[in-house]
Amino acid sequence: MSVSDAVFAIDRGLAELGDAFRSAFAAAKDEQALRDAHAELLGKKKGALTRVMALMRDVAASERPAAGAKVNDFKEQVEAAFEARLRDLAVARRSADLRGRPFDLTLPGRVPEGRGHLHPVLQTRDDLLRIFRDLGFDIVSGPEVELEENNFTKLAFPPDHPATDMQDTFWVGVHGPDGAQRDGRVLLRTHTSNTQIRVMSSRKPPMAVVSAGPVYRRDDDLTHSPMFHQIEGFVVDEGVSMADLKGVLAAFAEGLYGPGTRIRFRPSYFPFVEPGAEVDIGCVFCSEADGSRARCRVCKQTGWVEVLGCGMIHPEVLEHCNIDRTRYGGFAFGFGIERIAMLRYGIPSIKLLFENDPRFLSQF
Ligand code: DAH
Repeated sequence: MSVSDAVFAIDRGLAELGDAFRSAFAAAKDEQALRDAHAELLGKKKGALTRVMALMRDVAASERPAAGAKVNDFKEQVEAAFEARLRDLAVARRSADLRGRPFDLTLPGRVPEGRGHLHPVLQTRDDLLRIFRDLGFDIVSGPEVELEENNFTKLAFPPDHPATDMQDTFWVGVHGPDGAQRDGRVLLRTHTSNTQIRVMSSRKPPMAVVSAGPVYRRDDDLTHSPMFHQIEGFVVDEGVSMADLKGVLAAFAEGLYGPGTRIRFRPSYFPFVEPGAEVDIGCVFCSEADGSRARCRVCKQTGWVEVLGCGMIHPEVLEHCNIDRTRYGGFAFGFGIERIAMLRYGIPSIKLLFENDPRFLSQF
């Protein structure tokens, strides 16, 4: 092939490609088709232009700059036409959208599948806290890792009380920067009564406070889990009596199970209250038509379900928190949230609450 033949062949190739791309771009109905046509023409490996450019090899050195400039010119034309067509397609698509039927804003939205929600224990916690908040209680939180002092000593547990034993307490080793174990005993709190001590030591009466959160014990069976949740509530003021305690707990029982729910007190012992009591709520699950409870598994046919511990705050505890025991008195109560949730939803094993099986949790 002679030199001018090669230049001629390039000219002819570019002219043919020029016709081809103009009609291909014009025919492209959408962005993808346009991009395909563009790749067919300018694609590095298989593009039509690459074939034309291969002819460069046969072009004499003196004619090469001019031939190269023509090819570059051509490329620029192609790119400009490509961009212009791209814009036209976008404008066309937008005006088709605008001309099309409007969105129907009255259609129901699409609800995402598998949407999460609060755990049943936390739902129960919030419902319970709401009852106390409506009664005028402040909501506070306390630490889960606590000093022995606040968890046991200031609550008047005798030093050898079995609850402080390794049996049911998780002790925490605290080490200083030098790696040596620090003095002072620290544990995962075994109840939320620690908040009582902290709040009473830092506020002046009157006060009405509730606190909720995880607690830890070395306990593990059908109704016990090493971690569970409690709510603690207490009131300190002048002239507080057991009648006030009863009023608050009756309102609580009604808030939980509806008007007319009965409660009863049974004497019991907790070191930090005197007198102390356990409170049962009248079973709301005995639903036999004749009022009998022959088959009630919840109250085991007794008609009562034990739910909490309570009492009048021991004067010694007030003293430990620098509250004048001759002037002030108070009451306190505490209970497990899981137990209430299990009663509320008829859940047979506490384990179900902590296995995090979505088939279980999605029922709440
Ligand atoms: N702290 C007790 C427990 O974990 C529950 C309790 C009993 C709390 C009596 C109180 C109370 O405030 O007065 O078993």
